Amino acid sequence: MNARILLADDDSSLRFVLSQALGKEGYAVRATGNVATLSKWVRDGEGDLVLSDVYMGEDCVFDALPGMRAARPNLPVIVMSAQSTVATALSAAGAGAYDYVPKPFDLDELMAAVKRALSGGPDAKTRAQASKAEKEERLPLIGRSAAMQDVYRVMARVSGTDLTVLIEGESGTGKERVARALHDHGRRAAAPFITLSLAGASAAQLDRDLFGAEGAFAQANGGTLFLEDVDELTSEAQTRLSGLLHSETARPNVRLIVAAHRNLATLMRQGAFRQDLFYQLNVVPMRLPPLRERRDDIGDLARAFLVRAKREGLPDKTLDASAIERLKGYDFPGNVRELENLLRRAAALSPAAVISAREIEHELMVATAPAAAAEGETAASFEQAVHERLTHEFSLAGSTLPAPGLYDRLLAEVERPLIVETLQATRGNQIRAAAVLGINRNTLRKKIQALGIRTGRGD
Ligand SMILES: Nc1ncnc2c1ncn2[C@@H]1O[C@H](COP(=O)(O)OP(=O)(O)OP(=O)(O)O)[C@@H](O)[C@H]1O
Ligand SMILES: [Mg+2]
Repeated sequence: MNARILLADDDSSLRFVLSQALGKEGYAVRATGNVATLSKWVRDGEGDLVLSDVYMGEDCVFDALPGMRAARPNLPVIVMSAQSTVATALSAAGAGAYDYVPKPFDLDELMAAVKRALSGGPDAKTRAQASKAEKEERLPLIGRSAAMQDVYRVMARVSGTDLTVLIEGESGTGKERVARALHDHGRRAAAPFITLSLAGASAAQLDRDLFGAEGAFAQANGGTLFLEDVDELTSEAQTRLSGLLHSETARPNVRLIVAAHRNLATLMRQGAFRQDLFYQLNVVPMRLPPLRERRDDIGDLARAFLVRAKREGLPDKTLDASAIERLKGYDFPGNVRELENLLRRAAALSPAAVISAREIEHELMVATAPAAAAEGETAASFEQAVHERLTHEFSLAGSTLPAPGLYDRLLAEVERPLIVETLQATRGNQIRAAAVLGINRNTLRKKIQALGIRTGRGD
């Protein structure tokens, strides 16, 4: 029997052209220009493949896809769209679309995608799984759990606008990643994306860091300003920020996205956050769920992180089913960041090509070890040493205070041995060292330079 294709597009001339072309290839085509008809056909068991536009009139096919998936889990879907927006990129993944073809498309490419989608034997399935992880790694956000789909829906709605977005979520849940995706797929994509943390900032610092001639607003001009840790503003700084946001002249052409670890509405009710500032920031609220509330995403994320590690130059590793199960059983207090770092470490250090529950167990033990009793002593004495070191510095300064820059000076003292020892353990391999440290390779390289660490390569 010839494969039956359900074609949905509200452009009738394109519908005509495509029907002709598909017919010539021997497919039986049914075409419609609206989402409701398409959904009905799918529920009625018609078609072997869906080829659909994203927007038809006011309707969006991504709203119907979850229902179609539920009714026909194995029905392949190809989505075509003229705009590569955050909506299309994310929704195609989140709604579980099989493939995504940007418009205008090359007819041959489209036919190839149709053939691929229809040739779904078990072989095609494994290949699809492997290439799925590669494809997903390039997506702005990974995860198709119901919780993440709520996030994508909000993102799709606001990405084309300049509305202020408030992203709440625990550390490592992907707040910055979401902010960046909104910027990259919005109309300000060509302009800068600037990040600034407001943790503990005083009013005077705000004036300088935000509104000064070289402040973040000036740097982000025309683009997006991402303000992190707004829940950690001092109360005088809250007053200041609210006033500055009110005066339109002080606020140039910048789209604002803000992030908080704690729920601002709760803080406001407790009297810890100014009401007027809350309403200025809480235009579009979005909550990023902790990873333990969407364990279904762990497998997809883990596989994609291995692809990323490989692309960064780490050995090619895969995960078996026991590994994924073990990961799903862990709570990930550090959320996606912790999962990503764990897989980087496993990719860098585990001897086997296939990572199984045993290797994961080992990595989890390494990650949680400092709490163990035997380590307690060194941890305490290390902290003690820092206290003593600081007491010394403060007493040296006498009635005055130490020279400015104490924070960076002290951290440099910790950073240097940290990096030197790690490089030694990896025999100078910076890719592995970065993985063990859980920092980006470029960050490591910059730090090596900034701290003047000799890398044993004569430089
Ligand atoms: N859905 C996701 N898909 C792929 N990578 C993700 C996802 N969520 C988070 N990550 C990755 O996890 C790491 C942490 O994410 P991010 O920096 O956005 O977290 P955050 O919420 O801003 O954390 P913090 O509150 O500590 O600043 C990053 O490397 C990011 O790329
Ligand atoms: Mg962040």
